[in-house]
Amino acid sequence: MNNLKGKHIILGISGGIAAYKSVTLLRLLVKAGAEVQVVITPNGKEFITPVTLSSLSGNPVISDFFTANTGEWHSHVSLGIWADAMIVAPATASTLAKMANGVADNMLVTTYLSSRCPVFVAPAMDLDMMAHPTTTRNLATLRADGVRIIEPAAGELASHLVGRGRMEEPENIAAVLNDFFGEGRPLAGRKVLVTAGPTYERIDPVRFIGNFSTGKMGYAIAAEAAKQGAEVVLVSGPTALADPEGVTTIRIESARQMLDEVLAHFADSDIAVMCAAVADYAPANYVDRKIKREHDDVDSIALVKNPDIAASVGKEKKPGQILVGFALETDNAEAHAREKLARKNLDMIVVNSLADAGAGFGTDTNKVTVISRDKTEDFALKDKREVAKDIIDCIIRYL
Ligand code: PMT
Repeated sequence: MNNLKGKHIILGISGGIAAYKSVTLLRLLVKAGAEVQVVITPNGKEFITPVTLSSLSGNPVISDFFTANTGEWHSHVSLGIWADAMIVAPATASTLAKMANGVADNMLVTTYLSSRCPVFVAPAMDLDMMAHPTTTRNLATLRADGVRIIEPAAGELASHLVGRGRMEEPENIAAVLNDFFGEGRPLAGRKVLVTAGPTYERIDPVRFIGNFSTGKMGYAIAAEAAKQGAEVVLVSGPTALADPEGVTTIRIESARQMLDEVLAHFADSDIAVMCAAVADYAPANYVDRKIKREHDDVDSIALVKNPDIAASVGKEKKPGQILVGFALETDNAEAHAREKLARKNLDMIVVNSLADAGAGFGTDTNKVTVISRDKTEDFALKDKREVAKDIIDCIIRYL
């Protein structure tokens, strides 16, 4: 259920006995990482309590246009814009009829009419209601309006009659939504590990060895991989950036901490993109009090080499895993990058050079060349989010 992570979903519940199954559906969606807002019809509340639904979703359940005691207005318009998908389960004959004809006399149908997202319905009713020409007509109208129908199954119904009208099982409804969000997203089902930002190597409690990386390039790559459907873990050095949405972000400080997190997550990753500017050296001895100019008279700091994270991962790489590195150069960029590609056992390397204005550290733009073992592609100077898209597209083509 990777594709549901971070998705905003409206769960509409109308008044049918199958409403009890909506509780399981809600639990599955929340467990998969979706944020769910329940909208229930007045009749729906006769079958399932808002307390249960709000406890499971973590959000107040919406049923009325106003909260009676405060007069607070519930905006179906902003809810409709917020949502990535709306699922009405169960959708009774009455709710389907109202949706098909725009009868906006409750919050559920009003929200449906305001929604800009894809809408799914899981009908549930007795077999004769299901087979009635009115229902068939309403479903045809909804289908023509772009609503996706999750067909009901046949089986024993609440009336003890046997026939078609049972709401599809919650596991299958969740799977339909999950597949929907995976469509057209080539990295769906893949795990991507990204490193970003600088590392800080402490000299004393107030000073460190670091570099000018802001994390912008790596964060844009993590966000783009998530957008393309991947489950993304971002291991980030110190940055001022907010965690990208839909990405598991792990904050570290030093190269050694980054190495530990990267090795912990690499084994079950399909793709790793090493964009961090890792400090190559750390002070040999950390001084646990502030070094004083007057007393300590330091004129040099002994350094030790930090581990090479990309090279360590290159040694662990199994067939089928793809390892992408970066090369930040100042001169002879392509030759240095090719040497790193081979030495670190990379599949692909992204070269950026500080010799190009607007490329490299700090800027919102970058200019890259992507080199794989059999191909070299040059890209123009662009916004780092567009550069991230180019890099992810190169990786998808490589796959
Ligand atoms: O963060 P921004 O401000 O947006 O800037 C983006 C960037 C310039 C930092 C980024 O585009 C970039 O070039 N990142 C790699 C910087 C770097 O360390 O390059 P390098 O040529 O020294 O390293 C080569 C590769 O080995 C890189 O994948 C690097 O992550 C990795 N490496 C380097 C040293 C080390 N000890 N461990 C490593 O894993």
